Amino acid sequence: MLKIEGLSKKYEGNVVLDKIDLEINKGDVIGIIGPSGTGKSTLLRSINMLEKPEEGRILIDDLSLEFPLNRVDRKKVFEFRSKTGMVFQRFNLLKHKTALQNVMEGLITVQKKSKLEAEQLALTALEQVGVAEWRNHYPKHLSGGQQQRVAIARTLVMRPDVILLDEPTSALDPELISEVLKVIKEIADKGYTMLLVSHEMNFIRKVSNRVIFLDGGHIVEDGSPREVFKQPKNERTIQFLQKMNILAEHEEDYVI
Ligand SMILES: Nc1ncnc2c1ncn2[C@@H]1O[C@H](COP(=O)(O)OP(=O)(O)OP(=O)(O)O)[C@@H](O)[C@H]1O
Ligand SMILES: [Mg+2]
Repeated sequence: MLKIEGLSKKYEGNVVLDKIDLEINKGDVIGIIGPSGTGKSTLLRSINMLEKPEEGRILIDDLSLEFPLNRVDRKKVFEFRSKTGMVFQRFNLLKHKTALQNVMEGLITVQKKSKLEAEQLALTALEQVGVAEWRNHYPKHLSGGQQQRVAIARTLVMRPDVILLDEPTSALDPELISEVLKVIKEIADKGYTMLLVSHEMNFIRKVSNRVIFLDGGHIVEDGSPREVFKQPKNERTIQFLQKMNILAEHEEDYVI
């Protein structure tokens, strides 16, 4: 349902994504791992049209975008963006709006829903991630974990075809990480298609059905969590996992 062909992105001559090819099925949860600066965020941001790649093609179902874009693609970019939803490391909530208003915002401005309908949908989404009781609080009066759950509700409520999560727990205090991981696992189990960038290797291993290792703008490893974490083929993957102390020794490490 999501297909990426020959996608390349440069910043000032520095190649960050180098002719990436990737095909994802509906319901896949793809864990994306790799060293810092290898293009993980750039890949997600390109799928969400926050970056404009120079070359390649992205398709979601029958909608296709070819790069470089031209003016006539504006409507398609908008449509494309509405098929993807992004959860950011730093939540990116609107400061002057309550939790409920943050979740309602896209429903009203983008999907043109009535205030009443938006409010009902937003409340259901907040309930789903366990923060409905905080609906009238402003972001600064919420913990990081609560803010991130509001941000996840804001993404879910728009019913995107693909959810992109870029290190959703790395800005959180350690004791708040598990409440957010739990919500992400619940969403994954509901059959949403997700691309998840995270340094929480154990979580990636548990939640993904496929893991990709990005290095130097290339996908150098692509397989099941078992294959990638237990029998990585690429030397860079082995080094990375060794450094993270993650190469599993025992079969039982894979029992979830
Ligand atoms: N807006 C930008 N302008 C110039 N260079 C950029 C820009 N955004 C990213 N880069 C560079 O592109 C490369 C890839 O960045 P990216 O943020 O995609 O890496 P990453 O894999 O997400 O890293 P991390 O694990 O640290 O988040 C890095 O070298 C980064 O410095
Ligand atoms: Mg990043």
